[in-house]
Amino acid sequence: MSAISHAAQLLSEGTGLSDEERHLLAIIQRNSLRIEETVRSVLTLSRKRQSLPQRVDLGEWSLAFAAEFRERHRLNDADLTVSVASAPLVIRADPDHLHQIIANLCDNALVHGRGPNGELNIRIQLGRLHLPERIYLEVCDSGPGISPELVQSIFEPFFTTQRQGVGLGLYIARELAIANGIQLSHLTQPQGACFCLTFGQDLILS
Ligand SMILES: Nc1ncnc2c1ncn2[C@@H]1O[C@H](COP(=O)(O)OP(=O)(O)OP(=O)(O)O)[C@@H](O)[C@H]1O
Ligand SMILES: [Mg+2]
Repeated sequence: MSAISHAAQLLSEGTGLSDEERHLLAIIQRNSLRIEETVRSVLTLSRKRQSLPQRVDLGEWSLAFAAEFRERHRLNDADLTVSVASAPLVIRADPDHLHQIIANLCDNALVHGRGPNGELNIRIQLGRLHLPERIYLEVCDSGPGISPELVQSIFEPFFTTQRQGVGLGLYIARELAIANGIQLSHLTQPQGACFCLTFGQDLILS
């Protein structure tokens, strides 16, 4: 795929191309990038190594994740907030897997979860529930949300509503969650989209 997009790039740098030829070259470049992205995602899944659980303080971890995510996407503090309802929230999970799960959810909020004027309001909310004892981590946004007829399809591989989408983000997130014994579900909300990770008693350390 790299060779194809590179060749198309070289061709497009040539002179004497008609508008039609430039348009066709742009299609080749756009679609080879898209296929490259799909292949990369599938490779991530097939290379998915076994989970290596470690002690993770979810409160601290989420603050560090949010700082890094804001920096990577040049976001303001208000675009992505973290609220921790109780402490300590210490669980056992593979931190790299956890990172990929939350990054996929936050990437989705960036792409699909903007308000009508493009504004962002991504909220990572953590807390603990009792009977049965469990810790939750939610990623919510204030975008258009997910219509009820699509909800049962969003975790399917290659399901996407976006022209440039691959449709593997939520599928990979759920596969990684399962590998760590974590539940990942979509929560129906009056406004926006909300995804919840639930860590059961067997994963809670304190
Ligand atoms: N926060 C969100 N708000 C609204 N719709 C969402 C949100 N997150 C996911 N979706 C819906 O679920 C679909 C599947 O999401 P998924 O992450 O699997 O694929 P994608 O984002 O389209 O592509 P990619 O493979 O690049 O992640 C999206 O196309 C979108 O319709
Ligand atoms: Mg996605």
